[in-house]
Formats: sequence, structure tokens, C-alpha cells
Amino acid sequence: WPAFAPEIDAIRRLKRERNAVVLAHNYQTPEIFHGVADIVGDSLALARKAAETDAEVIVMAGVHFMAETAKLVSPEKKVLMPDMRAGCSLATSITGEDIRLLREAYPGVPVVTYVNTSAEVKAESDICCTSGNAVKIVESLGVDRVIFLPDTYLASYVAKQTDVEIISWHGRCEVHERFTGEEIRRYRRGYENVVVIAHPECPPDVLDAADFVGSTAQMIDHVRAKKPPRVLMVTECSMSDNVAAEVRDVEFVRPCNLCPHMKLITLPKIRRALETMEPEVTIDPQVAARARAAVERMLEVK
Ligand code: 13P
Ligand code: SF4
Repeated sequence: WPAFAPEIDAIRRLKRERNAVVLAHNYQTPEIFHGVADIVGDSLALARKAAETDAEVIVMAGVHFMAETAKLVSPEKKVLMPDMRAGCSLATSITGEDIRLLREAYPGVPVVTYVNTSAEVKAESDICCTSGNAVKIVESLGVDRVIFLPDTYLASYVAKQTDVEIISWHGRCEVHERFTGEEIRRYRRGYENVVVIAHPECPPDVLDAADFVGSTAQMIDHVRAKKPPRVLMVTECSMSDNVAAEVRDVEFVRPCNLCPHMKLITLPKIRRALETMEPEVTIDPQVAARARAAVERMLEVK
């Protein structure tokens, strides 16, 4: 990425000076993902690795809920968010008050909350999950029924994989909800033998039309392991750019839906965060203690 070299060099120097690491989600653009990130992955990997790093400062090249999760598992570290406006349509679909009302409607039913939520919502939950471990987390509770929030499509995908009854919410990812089953069938007609792999935030007809469904990391691992000659990754489109830079001899068919929140994170903003040590993510200590318990319960499930 020669055009970005001065910015990348400055960020690498600042990281050393500040004892900082950059965590980047799989949806970040290649110059961030391959150029300055120390740790990359899906939401689950970022949460696990934020807890393990020895660095004093974490810069989250992702969205706000990911920075909050990093702060929850590493409260002693400074967590910087290069653009505080980087949100998530799932996180804004539900509040702590909504969960309190659901608990009144379904007394005694445990609440499993997708990590794509605010700390305030996690604080009202029994346990968190990600797209990579949702079925395992639901089944780890040993109950017949769970409230599963907030993604309605992830909930219906989980319901198909388990006998546990799933009570869901109406949240949706504004990026994945745009894909349709008809679009996938059109790509199959246009690109012979294309292998379709999809993220479980997609609508059910898209998942039914896919060959493999998994978290962003599971999707990448699938391509690395199987090396299909032609692949369609039904998810945010920077991910195909990142994998294409690494995996040779695979043709990536790329419908392009971008996450506007992820795309708010840029090299100049990462550099500025490291120069000014702002903006910093903070969480009310009482909310944090309860939210941390829900995240840690998830991390304890092997
Ligand atoms: P993953 O945990 O699969 O990376 O998903 C996070 C996300 O925001 C997908 O839209
Ligand atoms: Fe949220 Fe969807 Fe963006 Fe992921 S892709 S951060 S779920 S809006």
C-alpha cells in the first residue's frame, strides 16, 4: 500500500512509543487490516485477544461495541476509538429497558445477548455470544428456552441448529439485511461452480441458498482450508479484499455492501488517536461490572 506508507510508518512508530496495539475487525480496509493491525479477527477473537494483550493501550479499528467489549475485559487498559460515531444498527435496536420488560414477560428465561450491543444491554443479560459461538452458548445453559437478542436473523439461524426454543427480538444488521436469496441465485447462474459462504446476520433465504454459514473468522478459515476456485463471501465487502490479498488462486466474486460504521475508521483517525490518546472509551463502573460478567461467562465456555 505505497500510497499509505507515510501514515502506516507514523502509526507503527506511535504504537511503539505508546506501548499500543491496534485491534482490527475483519471488515477493516486492507491498509488497516494488513498495514497497521497487530491483532485481527472476528468479534470473539478480538474480545479474547483484548483480554490477553500486555499492551497498555488498545486502539479499536472496529465499531463502538467492540471497543466497549475490549474495555470490559481489559479495564486497566486505555481503549481508544478512532471515531466514536462508528456504531452498529444491531446495537441501537435494543436498550436495557427493553430487556427488563422482556424479563417481566418471560420470567426466569435466561437472556443471551449478541456482543453487537451496548454495555448497558450486556449488563442486563445473563451471557453474551458472538456469531462464532451462538449455538454453543445457547446450549451451554442447559435450559429449554432462551431469550436471544437482538438479531432476528441470527436468532432464526440458531433456532434451526438447536432444540432449545428461541425467543427473539427484531434487530437487524443494516448491511446483511440487504442481501437476498434471489441475488445469490443470480450469482450462481452467472458464475458457474461458485461456492457461496454467508454470515448468519443474513436473512434466512440467503442462508438457505449458501454452501457454508459462519462468523467472519469462520468464513475466512473456510476459504483458507478449502481454497475453492471461485467464492462469493456474502458479507461486508472489505473482507474479500483482505482475504484476496493473502489467498492466491481463488477468484472472489464481490457483491459490495459496505458497513458505513466500519468505514468511519481510517488511517489518519488511528494516527490522531495515538497522537492525542483520545477519544477514550469509558464505561460507568456499575454497568461495567455487570456487563463484564456476561462477557466473561461467554469467554469461559470452551
Ligand atoms: P463477527 O463476529 O462474525 O466478526 O461479526 C461481527 C459483525 O459485526 C458482523 O457484521
Ligand atoms: Fe453492525 Fe452490521 Fe456493521 Fe456488523 S456490519 S458492525 S452488524 S451494522
